[in-house]
Amino acid sequence: MAMMKRFLTLSIFLVHLITVAQGAAPHNDTLGIKNGYLSFETKDFYVQLVKDAQVLASLVPKSAAPFDFAPFDFLPRRAADGNYHTGDLIVRWRGSRDSKWLEQNTAWTRKAVAALNPPDKATFAAANLGPTFNASIPFSLTRTWSRTDAGDLSMSFSIKNTQNSALEIGSVGFPAEFNSIFTGLAAEDIQANCSLTDPNIGLNGGYLRVTRVNGSPPALVVTPLNDDSKFEGWDFLTENGSVGVQSGYQTSDFEGLYQWMVHTRAYAEQEWNATIPWNTPTSRTLKPGEAFTVGLVFKMASQIDQIEDTLRKTGSPVAVGIPGYIIPQDMEAQLLIDATAAISSISTKPKGAFKTQLRSGKALSLTPSPTAFGRVRLNIKYSDGKEQSIHYHISKSAPQAVQDVGTYLSSKHWWTNESDPFGRAPSFMAVDHSGGIGQKILQLDRVWLAGECHEAGASWLTAAMKQVAQPVAEEVAKLETFIHKVLWKTIQLRDSYAVRQSIFWYDPTRKDFWYDPRLPYELQTQTHYSNSWNAATANVTTRGYGYIFPAATYWALYRAGRAFPEMLKEAPWQWYLNQSYQTVKYAFGVLPNGTHPVDYWNLGLMGETIIGELLKDLQREDWTSQADEVISLMKARSDVWEVTAVPFGSELHWDSTGQEGVFYWSNYFGREATVNKTIGTIMGYTPTVNHWGYNGNARRYWDFQFDGKISRIERQIHHYGSALNSLPLLGYFRSKTMPLYVLRITFGGVFAPLSNIQDDGFGSTAFHSWADTLAWEVYSGDYGPAFLGMMLGSATYVVDDGELSLTAFGGQLVQGSGKRYTVMPFDALRKRIYFQAEGLYVELDYGAVQSAEVSSKQLKLKLVQRPTPAATAAGEAILWVERTTATSMSVSSVNVSGKALIMKRGGWAIPLGAGTASVTLTLK
Ligand SMILES: *[C@@H]1O[C@H](CO)[C@@H](O)[C@H](O)[C@H]1NC(C)=O
Ligand SMILES: *[C@@H]1O[C@H](CO)[C@@H](O)[C@H](O)[C@H]1NC(C)=O
Ligand SMILES: *[C@@H]1O[C@H](CO)[C@@H](O)[C@H](O)[C@H]1NC(C)=O
Ligand SMILES: *[C@@H]1O[C@H](CO)[C@@H](O)[C@H](O)[C@H]1NC(C)=O
Ligand SMILES: *[C@@H]1O[C@H](CO)[C@@H](O)[C@H](O)[C@H]1NC(C)=O
Ligand SMILES: *[C@@H]1O[C@H](CO)[C@@H](O)[C@H](O)[C@H]1NC(C)=O
Ligand SMILES: *[C@@H]1O[C@H](CO)[C@@H](O)[C@H](O)[C@H]1NC(C)=O
Repeated sequence: MAMMKRFLTLSIFLVHLITVAQGAAPHNDTLGIKNGYLSFETKDFYVQLVKDAQVLASLVPKSAAPFDFAPFDFLPRRAADGNYHTGDLIVRWRGSRDSKWLEQNTAWTRKAVAALNPPDKATFAAANLGPTFNASIPFSLTRTWSRTDAGDLSMSFSIKNTQNSALEIGSVGFPAEFNSIFTGLAAEDIQANCSLTDPNIGLNGGYLRVTRVNGSPPALVVTPLNDDSKFEGWDFLTENGSVGVQSGYQTSDFEGLYQWMVHTRAYAEQEWNATIPWNTPTSRTLKPGEAFTVGLVFKMASQIDQIEDTLRKTGSPVAVGIPGYIIPQDMEAQLLIDATAAISSISTKPKGAFKTQLRSGKALSLTPSPTAFGRVRLNIKYSDGKEQSIHYHISKSAPQAVQDVGTYLSSKHWWTNESDPFGRAPSFMAVDHSGGIGQKILQLDRVWLAGECHEAGASWLTAAMKQVAQPVAEEVAKLETFIHKVLWKTIQLRDSYAVRQSIFWYDPTRKDFWYDPRLPYELQTQTHYSNSWNAATANVTTRGYGYIFPAATYWALYRAGRAFPEMLKEAPWQWYLNQSYQTVKYAFGVLPNGTHPVDYWNLGLMGETIIGELLKDLQREDWTSQADEVISLMKARSDVWEVTAVPFGSELHWDSTGQEGVFYWSNYFGREATVNKTIGTIMGYTPTVNHWGYNGNARRYWDFQFDGKISRIERQIHHYGSALNSLPLLGYFRSKTMPLYVLRITFGGVFAPLSNIQDDGFGSTAFHSWADTLAWEVYSGDYGPAFLGMMLGSATYVVDDGELSLTAFGGQLVQGSGKRYTVMPFDALRKRIYFQAEGLYVELDYGAVQSAEVSSKQLKLKLVQRPTPAATAAGEAILWVERTTATSMSVSSVNVSGKALIMKRGGWAIPLGAGTASVTLTLK
């Protein structure tokens, strides 16, 4: 989200169709679809290949026909030279070390391949691919499509050196084309007909998971054909010019395709030479006459959470990381390995980044080195020769990382030039982290980045949300100054609480501001939209998304000020709470004539879980009429979603932002069907794989255009979707008896914003996933909503579902005698714990839980004044206790006792003046 389509009023009721001729005559059909298809069946699929090219046209799971994993409907628009399909091959080679890498690619210049007689009964189609290459090649290449012994579909390539000299194969890539093409489709059709593909770039443990956008069964799992087919690289494929345009390739409606690479040396030495690839680049030397076979197997998983079970059946090593693959320096992680062969060696790169210890069976404990930081690869070798790589990211201790964010914002982002003619100071400006310097972005042609109100420019949101974890007087003071001199003066209109969408704009006639001529500013006119908004566009107050950030900021100041009243100098906590409330009321309310002053009131907005927090606080403060008003405003939205087939609209055609709000209020009002549908879609676009960047990574691939210095359509690693989508998953996990699978994707998301925090505390908007880049974006951009998600979601979850023994996600658990255990939170906040068996969620406003000792029916919490030594000490903590519906018991079934407890703000106030305190929760 973040696409500015000011001239296009979009709503979820209006499906905007990109004007691409539907059902038009095949366009440059060199693929040969006019000559028909080869059809056959495997155990689980109906399969069709294009007869001439023998590439995959259709892959329909029998259990869900006519749903198709392949974009069959789009084939006529993807039949030209240069359109990639599953079944294509991209290969690079060289004759000797000193010669240049050469490439051939079956998609370049299509000719019908030379069909061969199938060599055996299991083979459906076989061909020599020679005819489709546009130059002679020093090897022979055949491809077969067959049925494996297990009845699955396989695709195999045999490459044989036909020279008299050795040949080095520097890369072999299989383009993977599944239907993630949203172009021109109605929202219902996207949900019903499209899928998303995620890679596990894990060598012999590698695979692709293809899941339906709506999360419905089944899922597709693509695994290596044999040990030679390891998944070493994942590379974006460019489709140039008119070739890709037909299907909307590389637009917000179609991310584009990638190749599964078996070898990558030829790329690592060229396109990728400015970065460090995920895996060690390899090549393969073929002696004269030598051949090798590589390929993929396509298997069905009955549903998304069965993907790993499906993998286990293939003999692939399967690893499950707990709590995931982003590990703070002070946290011990676990890796559960399921493999048919014994582990023969374990190593990390960089060396020593983890101390690894093999526990019982194949459970590995990983202890980060206190100096390790950033990407770490764990390599596991097995006695059968297989090799698996697991991709980790080590962060600082989570509370330390949070503290660093505050320090960085308060120094590098803080800008005090009050002579700014736009009235943007004092504020936390967006920052460019190039070269590690941290330059403020005081102007840019994409004006919103310097215009503060939009998520890409609202670094003050991060600064405010940090106070929810660790309030610091100096930071609160800066926020108050910002609020009273900028937010509640320039950004918001005081007569209405309306929020502008930018307070920086392009007006070359201005004498009081120097627009840098090196920037590509472009005049916006009545008829010409430009990213360089003029004053009128900047002034627009109808963009609903912009309202969440001020509402959250006021709320955060309320929270901090309520607990640390001495920190507030400009206004009391009541003022902040009211500002938050009034901003929400304006954003979702109606004018006297019954119209909505703000658009998107009927969409789920990023970070709006904050409205739920506001509502709880209004109730705790007995601000009953305000609370009732919020409930009624939210009910009106929920009513709309209840009767909308696909209520996850946004400014884009398909998106992963709306689900957070739709879940929150549908769940609040007990609308089970919508809750179920919403969680289904999140499961559809949020994978778990052995990779810190893709695990829990809710799909986003367009916002670098709006918030990145490298501005392009590109899969984003840990943009705000990861953390924000973990909020509904967490809520759902607490309210239902859910498989652990849900918690695993959730923790991938809620820990994600830790990886964005650099060594110096700079928070990046996201990581560039393209294999030639693999680097953090240097603009701070919209890191704010991601950080908000982490602040609202961070908690420690104690679970025991039979799959795992008692385990703490986000914490450390020490088993005692009998059923006793102690858990210590290691998450970013250390003030929330969920006990699954008891259906009990405990939360502090401030202070921290040092440990919880749990025995049957009794939980003893040891509280301290702060989560990390440098944080401000809390004199008192409010403890809130919630019993979730899974146990359908009310809070009154918990007895809370401790020294000098008093009831306050809907919870128990616990004095922390002595430094520590202990509270006992007894379950009735
Ligand atoms: C492909 O189609 C485009 C537009 O219809 C046309 O301009 C182009 O010449 C065609 N190319 C080939 C190779 O037929
Ligand atoms: C083969 O096609 C590719 C892609 O169009 C082109 O770059 C390459 O030069 C062609 N090679 C020959 C020998 O024509
Ligand atoms: C999905 O695709 C099928 C087959 O192309 C089509 O008939 C159907 O209308 C599409 N949409 C839905 C919602 O099923
Ligand atoms: C990196 O590869 C590019 C070609 O893609 C080449 O121009 C450049 O010289 C290479 N740089 C190094 C350091 O090898
Ligand atoms: C923008 O809004 C401000 C405050 O309401 C107003 O003074 C100014 O004239 C507006 N500018 C334009 C171009 O609409
Ligand atoms: C409702 O009132 C607002 C504010 O006065 C005005 O801008 C809008 O045009 C009105 N809408 C209708 C339908 O009357
Ligand atoms: C939604 O409901 C269906 C039918 O009861 C169930 O199979 C499915 O697991 C539910 N999905 C989620 C995400 O709970």
